[in-house]
Amino acid sequence: MTNEEICERLNPILANELAGAMMYLHYSFFIYGHARIPIVGWLRSQSSEGMTHATLVGDKITALGGTPVTHPSHGKFPTSFDSLDEMLRATLVLEKEVFEQYATLLRDLEDENLGMRVYLEQMLTEEIGHIEEIEKMLSPDTVH
Ligand SMILES: [Fe+2]
Repeated sequence: MTNEEICERLNPILANELAGAMMYLHYSFFIYGHARIPIVGWLRSQSSEGMTHATLVGDKITALGGTPVTHPSHGKFPTSFDSLDEMLRATLVLEKEVFEQYATLLRDLEDENLGMRVYLEQMLTEEIGHIEEIEKMLSPDTVH
């Protein structure tokens, strides 16, 4: 796979990372009740992490000689919801999509491209961590 082809795959990931950063920020404005402070804190830390990931992807694109496109994917997350669970399910959909984008690129990459493989593996490790946390938050409220 050429650097240009890799960049063509990384730009949609950048767009989704940016959409994710905005999604978490947007959702953080709508938290009420006793758990507001920790939940807002978590949502905003996720937003910052999405921005950090977007920055890493943009830096990688320029390192490969490409041009980052910094437009968030449009319409990636619902902006109205009836519950925190519904909100979390929407975050899970986007997180899983981003995970698949990184994973598909890794699967399609030649074995020799070790630098890119390690980079993608690191991103996947972080993305799977987010997915697992959200799945646990959506699990029944019990101690296992
Ligand atoms: Fe990410």
